[in-house]
Amino acid sequence: MTTLDIQRDVPLAPLTTLELGGPAKHFVRVEDERSLSQALRWATEEGLSSVVLGGGSNVIVPDEGYDGLLIHMRIATAEFHNGGTVDAGAGLPWETVVDGAVSRGWAGLECLTGIPGSTGATPIQNVGAYGQEVAEVIASVRVLRRDTLAFEELGSEDCAFGYRDSRFKREPDRFIVCAVRFALRPDGPGTVRYADLERSIGADATLSQIRHTVLDLRRRKSMVIDPDDPNHRSAGSFFLNPIVAASEADRVTEKAVHENLVGAPSEVPRYPAGDGQVKLSAGWLIENAGIAKGTRRGAFGVSTRHALALVHHGGGTTADLLSFSDEIRARVRDHFGIALEREPRLLS
Ligand code: EPU
Repeated sequence: MTTLDIQRDVPLAPLTTLELGGPAKHFVRVEDERSLSQALRWATEEGLSSVVLGGGSNVIVPDEGYDGLLIHMRIATAEFHNGGTVDAGAGLPWETVVDGAVSRGWAGLECLTGIPGSTGATPIQNVGAYGQEVAEVIASVRVLRRDTLAFEELGSEDCAFGYRDSRFKREPDRFIVCAVRFALRPDGPGTVRYADLERSIGADATLSQIRHTVLDLRRRKSMVIDPDDPNHRSAGSFFLNPIVAASEADRVTEKAVHENLVGAPSEVPRYPAGDGQVKLSAGWLIENAGIAKGTRRGAFGVSTRHALALVHHGGGTTADLLSFSDEIRARVRDHFGIALEREPRLLS
C-alpha cells in the first residue's frame, strides 16, 4: 500500500499558467490510480472537499486558495497500440499524445498541437482548435466515480460532448478522469478544414506539415506558451464563443453594419452551430465593443495578439482579473446584448 504524501499550504500559482491565486490547504500528487482512490478516501475521512488539478492551463485559483485537498493529477501512462489506439493517463502532457500520434502517421490530433495542459482535461472541455475536436477521436474515458470509488469506462456516447462541453464539465462532482482512449486513423488524411489553415496549406498536406502550420498560427496569436512572449501568462481563451439563435446573429450583424464597424455583413465572423444556431466570435465582439487588443488594467491586459486571451503581467490578484473580465462582459452585453461566458474553470 502506497503512503500518501499529503502536504500543507502548497502555493498553487506556480502550477497554473496564469500564475495567480493562493495555496491549497492540503495537497497531494498522485501518480497512479491506487493513490488517487486513497486520496479521495482520506479527504472523505477528514471531512474535506477535494478537487483535481491537471496542467493548470485552464483554471483560475481564487486569492484565498483552496480549503480542501487539492489532488495534482500526475498519472502519466502512455500506450500506443498497433491500429491507432492510444491509451493515455490523465496527467500525461497533451503534446506527448499529439507528438506520438503525428510521428506514427496517425491522423486525428494534428490540429490540436501547441495546446498547453494535460490529457485528462481534453475530454472535460472537449478541447478543439483549427477544425478538430478531441470528441471526434475519443473512444472511451476511464473515470473514477466519486460516489462509489469504482473505476469505469465511459463510451464516447456517454460523455455528452458539445462545443467546449461534456458531461464531466456539467457534473464536476461525479467523475474524475483517469485516462483517455483515442481511436486514431493510421495513414488517414489530416484535417485541413479551418479557413486560416486552408489559406496556408494544401488539402494533401502531411500530418507533420499541418502540425507545423498550426503551431505557427498559434504562435502568431500568442496561443503557444513561450516564456519569452509578453502575452504568455494566460489561460488561453478566457470566454467561450457565444452560440446564439440565427436571429440574434442577424441583429448583431445589422448593428455592426449600421455602426460602420464592418463594410459588409459578411465581415462579421459567424459559423453554423447546428439546430439553426450560430456561433459568433467572442474575440470580434470584444474588439468591436471597444476593447482593443492590448488594453491594460493594472497587472492585467487583453493580449496584444488575440482579444479573447486575458494576460497577467505579474503581481496581480485573481480579484482584479475577475473584475477586468466583468468589465469586458459588461461592455459586450451593453454594446451587442450578448452575454459572454467564462471558459477557464474557477477553482472552488
Ligand atoms: N477575431 C477578432 N479579434 C480577435 C480574435 C479573433 O476579430 O482578437 C475574429 C476574427 O475574425 C477571426 C475569428 O474571430 O477570424 C476567429 O478567431 P480565431 O481563429 O483566432 O479563433 P477563436 O474563435 O477566437 C477558437 C478557440 C481557440 C482555438 C481557435 C482556433 C474558443 C473559445 N477558442 O478561438 O481555443 O485555438 O478557435 O481554432 O473556442 C482556447 O480554448 O483556449 C483556445 C485557444
